[in-house]
Amino acid sequence: MYLSYFGLKEQPFNVTPDPKFLYFGEAYQDALAYLIYGIRMRKGFVVLTGEIGVGKTTLINALFERLDDSHRIAHLVHSNMSLKDMLRFVFRDYGLDASGKSKSELLLALQDFLIRLDQKSGNAVLIIDEAQNLRSWQLEEIRLLSNIETAKRKLIQIVLVGQPELLQLMNSTELRQFKQRVSLHFHLKALNREESETYIEHRLKVSGYQGKRLFEDGALDEINNFSEGIPRLINSICDRAMIKAAIGGQQKIDRKLIKKVL
Ligand SMILES: Nc1ncnc2c1ncn2[C@@H]1O[C@H](COP(=O)(O)OP(=O)(O)OP(=O)(O)O)[C@@H](O)[C@H]1O
Ligand SMILES: [Mg+2]
Repeated sequence: MYLSYFGLKEQPFNVTPDPKFLYFGEAYQDALAYLIYGIRMRKGFVVLTGEIGVGKTTLINALFERLDDSHRIAHLVHSNMSLKDMLRFVFRDYGLDASGKSKSELLLALQDFLIRLDQKSGNAVLIIDEAQNLRSWQLEEIRLLSNIETAKRKLIQIVLVGQPELLQLMNSTELRQFKQRVSLHFHLKALNREESETYIEHRLKVSGYQGKRLFEDGALDEINNFSEGIPRLINSICDRAMIKAAIGGQQKIDRKLIKKVL
């Protein structure tokens, strides 16, 4: 533990998607703007991709906080489930009763709910995280959900979030129909050298750090190279570096120290 050594109130580099630590750099702002636009404009399908650990789930948590009360949100983390099981989770999140209903009854009840919500100017959102693990037949079933629409607009906005494999899946010939429905796709890029530095400083500040500049330029170069700008990796390198610095009685983190913890 190095909290008292560096005068911190809490762990700066935890690898949980805590919105309090949100670093809202340009790529994150753009991604969030895309998602909100897709949902508000009722685009039907919106896809967010990005490398492992780049911040997709963190961004989805930030999205929740920014959608007003007219939105009803269901949030699934994909696991291998049937459409019927998926619908049960969706019902729970929308506050609907799924008990004793068959798959077709669930679909009818959902349609009914979506039409009534639309009449009250509400908007239903379904977010599916870890969507790269979906099978093509599951994506086909999800496509059927998005068919619930009026002549004017889509009644449910489906946000698929996943690693780049999701794109490969969508590009397969059997999912051509599905791909045509996707009107918005945003790929979240990793941080560049400058952004990595701002990111690290931001997390230190949020955790209460008030001392002098902790990470030297050489250390930041090394962290950015090794992590390729992926926040989850940046966090774990910085965490190890701070432990080592505290143990060794160092007040600064330089390139040499980073090399030791890589
Ligand atoms: N914009 C950000 N602000 C603050 N921390 C972030 C940000 N993006 C990522 N992180 C940190 O990196 C960790 C990994 O991010 P997250 O879990 O959101 O990645 P992911 O893209 O969903 O990864 P996976 O592909 O494994 O699902 C988070 O727990 C958080 O600590
Ligand atoms: Mg994730």
